[in-house]
Amino acid sequence: HSRGKEQEREREKWGFSLISGIHSPEVVDQIQNFEIQDSDVFVITYPKSGTIWLQQILSLIEVKGDVTATINQLNSERVPWIELLDSRKQFVSAPSPRICVSHLPYKFMPVGLKQKKGKVIYVARNPKDVLVSYYHFHKYANMLETPKDFDTFFEKGKEGNVFGNCWFEHVKSWFSHKDEMNFLYITYEDMIKDLRSVVERITSFLARNLTSQQLNDVIEHSTFKNMKNNPQANYQQIPVILLNHQLGSFLRKGTVGDWKNYFTVAQNERFDRVYQQKMKDVPLSFIWDMNDLITP
Ligand code: A3P
Repeated sequence: HSRGKEQEREREKWGFSLISGIHSPEVVDQIQNFEIQDSDVFVITYPKSGTIWLQQILSLIEVKGDVTATINQLNSERVPWIELLDSRKQFVSAPSPRICVSHLPYKFMPVGLKQKKGKVIYVARNPKDVLVSYYHFHKYANMLETPKDFDTFFEKGKEGNVFGNCWFEHVKSWFSHKDEMNFLYITYEDMIKDLRSVVERITSFLARNLTSQQLNDVIEHSTFKNMKNNPQANYQQIPVILLNHQLGSFLRKGTVGDWKNYFTVAQNERFDRVYQQKMKDVPLSFIWDMNDLITP
């Protein structure tokens, strides 16, 4: 309960809620002044949209698919969240290419990114699956308020009263500024459908040359199953004070359409109305069901 109150105060101050203990307002405040190098890569996601998947894919692309070259470091150290405590030093002193992830909204981003320095990869996921994934994450992430039940979380998530704020605002603010940046837009559902073609889009965007075999290796070590068994990728080493591993996992289900197991018909209708209203001028569409991924 008190965590909820704290988040509310943060939101009032910043227009954005941070998670106390793991995020630092000072760090976030500094980000816009970061000097951006052309080789910098920022992966931007609303929480639960495939962040750790991209951390794994980018880690592997940089070592040309050689998974043994990644075993000495957690992905979150190689590709850190820029808003986390201590990440400023980590990012500034990292050797080129510096690669990071962030859930922050567009307004906190370094000025350089908005002048076409560096590169931005935005990963979006359909918001119904995001809501369900985030519900489960709240149950095992000790720094977040445990939801009473799905219905309670549905209201909270729909309104954006969570870290990351409103999904609609996140996607819209980033997408509407895309022409100011070197910007690649990908979706979680496209990755589920055809990981190879998304990885190819990423390597070509980043101008990395991988052989076909190296690409195969990147893909092989980025499957749900292999990530779940990979200690550098699955975050089971994150201390229990942050994540209660008995109650969940970052790699939970890894599918499209799980929301159908949670949303009631009434909740779905309400969500659709909000979606239609908020997204009416946005030229984006999402895949909501596994069946829609199968091309006849
Ligand atoms: P689910 O909870 O729906 O399973 P984030 O990294 O942004 O927190 O997102 C986590 C979500 O991405 C989880 O969704 C997780 O299972 C999914 N994910 C991570 N790696 C994946 C992979 N290799 N294949 C499919 N889904 C993956």
